[in-house]
Amino acid sequence: MEICWQFDYAIEIEKLRNLYAKAKKHQWDAAEDVAWDTPVDPSKPIIDESQFLFERLLVIRALSPSQREAFTAHMSCHLLSQFLHGEQGALMTAAALTHAVPDYEGKLYAATQTMDEARHVEVYERYINKLAMIYPISPWLKHLIDVTLESGNWVKIAIGMNMVVEGLALGAFHNMRRATTCELLRTITNNVLQDESRHVAFGNVYVGETLRDMHPDDREDVADFAFEAVKLISDAQGGPGGEGRRAPDPGFVQMLETVGIEPRDFVKSLLEAKAGGLRAQMPPGQIHSFRDLMLPALVRVGAVTERSRERFADAGIPVWDDATRLEALEDQDTGVADLDAIEAV
Ligand SMILES: [Fe+2]
Ligand SMILES: [Fe+2]
Repeated sequence: MEICWQFDYAIEIEKLRNLYAKAKKHQWDAAEDVAWDTPVDPSKPIIDESQFLFERLLVIRALSPSQREAFTAHMSCHLLSQFLHGEQGALMTAAALTHAVPDYEGKLYAATQTMDEARHVEVYERYINKLAMIYPISPWLKHLIDVTLESGNWVKIAIGMNMVVEGLALGAFHNMRRATTCELLRTITNNVLQDESRHVAFGNVYVGETLRDMHPDDREDVADFAFEAVKLISDAQGGPGGEGRRAPDPGFVQMLETVGIEPRDFVKSLLEAKAGGLRAQMPPGQIHSFRDLMLPALVRVGAVTERSRERFADAGIPVWDDATRLEALEDQDTGVADLDAIEAV
């Protein structure tokens, strides 16, 4: 990326100054401020079992109680490993933003996000190792973060990370926080969510302002990037509702083998269950990342254009634009998200 000095130290974007001030005030120490001595029992389900579609498969029901406990712990670790690797990606993109944003106040803010993400990597690494083991990153997630970092354009980096990847992560964090039976994981995720609410607000404030002033051709280029990033996740997850076929994930296969499940049996059981009408049920209050966070965030800043709407339509991805839950999550006035209020929305 181009070297981007800024010698004008006057602050013009007040909202960024505020976010920077809040970020400084709400720093926490991953080592000191988390009660790491809270016991974690890997034999107890970390995530309420009824939340997992997989728990209803015949191949899982046929497991012995001890195998089933191992499956639940390792399955949780596979999911949390994606959080961990995603946080490392966020650490790198936030550092890239510090380098590349043109405004002084933008650089100050991005430095705080860099520290936030470092802390998030630290907590998830520590937690996963209390539970079982770290699994490899899903190839599609790595690809999406690589493409974002390689874009060489800070607006695309902020869209790829602060709106698309963090939209996905925020939904998953929020749902994890509601579903977990582990006090330690709930505390960690609460703390992380408070930080993430600023990261989403940053994307909104700064990218929104920049896109408004952008040449229409450049805005279309950014809109294409946003579409492709969303489509990449949608394709990997079997569509925005997750009904279709998911992309292969060697880490997931490794997880099955580790707990003694033959991957072929697992896939067969999953396909049979789906043919028999088994669907993931979203409990009330659950956040849907595409509908509640990702798409509304992109629409709100103008990263979806009339032209790119057609691309979304062709790809079968609805352009949801209700930002109510997104706004509840990012509470810009206090810098503290009211997590319980989101469920009432
Ligand atoms: Fe993070
Ligand atoms: Fe973040």
